[in-house]
Parts: sequence; structure tokens; C-alpha cells
Amino acid sequence: MIPLQIVDERFKKIYEIILSAGEILKEGFSSAVSIQEKGIKDLVTEYDIRIENFLKEKLKKFNTNFVAEESFLTYDFSNSFIIDPIDGTTNFAHKIPHTAISVAYYENNKVIYGFVYNPILNEFFYAKKGEGAYLNDKKINVSKIDNFQRSLIATGFPYSSAENEEDLNFVITKLKHILPRCQDIRRLGSAALDLCYVASGRYEGFYEINLKPWDVAAGILILEEAGGIVSDNFGEEYDLIESKCIVASNGLIHEKFIEILNKK
Ligand code: IPD
Ligand code: CA
Ligand code: CA
Repeated sequence: MIPLQIVDERFKKIYEIILSAGEILKEGFSSAVSIQEKGIKDLVTEYDIRIENFLKEKLKKFNTNFVAEESFLTYDFSNSFIIDPIDGTTNFAHKIPHTAISVAYYENNKVIYGFVYNPILNEFFYAKKGEGAYLNDKKINVSKIDNFQRSLIATGFPYSSAENEEDLNFVITKLKHILPRCQDIRRLGSAALDLCYVASGRYEGFYEINLKPWDVAAGILILEEAGGIVSDNFGEEYDLIESKCIVASNGLIHEKFIEILNKK
């Protein structure tokens, strides 16, 4: 059992439920899994559904709405759990151990709890608004690197790149500007973990287009509680539904990051 640092009974109960959901993910990771295609590139496995159903069943006692990827109907965030049962499904389907359960709890117009759990690597990132961010039993902070050329930057490629040329061009143009100006780029395949890796100082920054609230709601809180910053690609406030591009960083490289992303 991983020691939990935040003293809040409701938080602890939710944390325990996500820990149990992690056992289901681990079972799926070590067995043959049935996989279906939601889109040309977008996969769903029987375990995405199983984990989501398990979380909804266990979390319903908190009397909330659910905004959950595999049973999504509308963006009704009022007192809701925002759930991605498996973030990094392509990794999960290919047995790459970079995949996580992401759960945010939204109350009074903001996310107040964030949980991102990779049970394969036994890494549980979590935060409560105003109380800092943690990886297992350790408080985490963003890195102190303030030089973009020394910065390790993460990104992701939208599933829409298969059919939307504008999105594909966005990816290529941004890579062309970012890659020569940073230390290197990583595309590990889980936006929730990308945000947590910025939060824990492994990366200096992360950007991606077309993400959904369940990809980022928990990770954003974890990053902000670790001292990081999130905006859109114009440096404006990131809106979970409306914004096209997320830009997340340790804060120190943010201005430069936005400047480079806006090069023509
Ligand atoms: C995906 C991952 C990936 C990102 C995609 C997401 P999924 O979520 O976060 O890193 O590049 O845009 O959709 O499909 O594995 O839940
Ligand atoms: Ca996702
Ligand atoms: Ca998912």
C-alpha cells in the first residue's frame, strides 16, 4: 500500500477506489485483450470499459455526475468525476507500460482533486487543490530549468491526423519549430502522464491539440499544484472544452514556449 499524504476522508476513499481499479488494469496488461477500433486510429479495449464501469459503480456513492470517456453524453461538470479509464490505450493494447487511470473531481466550478495512476510502474500522482502535488509518498515540484534549449518537451499526435490535413500540418509545423530549439521531444502516448511528468520535473513542457477534458483535467491540477503553468497556445487561459491546444510547462520556459509555437 502506498502511503497517502493528503488528510481528507473523501479524497482517501476515492484514492483507494482508483488503487483497486489499477488491479483491473494490471490484469489486462498481462493477458490477451479484445481490442476494437473507435476511429481509424482510436482504439478501445474491453478493459477501458471494465475499468470505467468499475469506477462509476464504486464512485456513485459520492452523488455526482460522470463525464467519462467511454460513456460520454454531455459536458455537465457540476459536481462530477471526469474519468479516463485508460489514458494511453494504444500503449496498453501494445503492452507498453506507459498507461494510466485518470480521475478528476470537479466541484464549485473547478477541479479540486486530481489522480493519475500508472499501476504497471506503481506510480500514483495525485493532488488536492491548495495542498500540493505528490508522486506516491513524495511531494513533487516542476523543474528549475529556464533555458528552452535545455528543455525536454513532450507532445502527442491527435487521432484526427489520419483524416484532417489541417491537424496534421499543425503537428508538423510545430515540430519543425520546437525540435531544433529544445533538448529533445518525447511522444510517450499518455497526455495525463505527460502533464504529471512536467509536474514531477521529468519534462520541462508539453503541448498537444484536440485533447478531451478526461485526458487533462486531473493532470492540470497536479501540474498547477506542483508549481507549473497551463495555457492555450496564445498564452490565454486553457478551457477544458473550448481550447484547441494545451501548453503546459514549469512556468520558467512558458513565454519562450508560446513564442516558438507561434512562429510561422
Ligand atoms: C490519448 C493519449 C495520447 C494522446 C491522444 C489521447 P487515449 O488518450 O492521451 O497521448 O496523444 O490524443 O487521445 O485514447 O489513450 O485515452
Ligand atoms: Ca485519453
Ligand atoms: Ca482513454
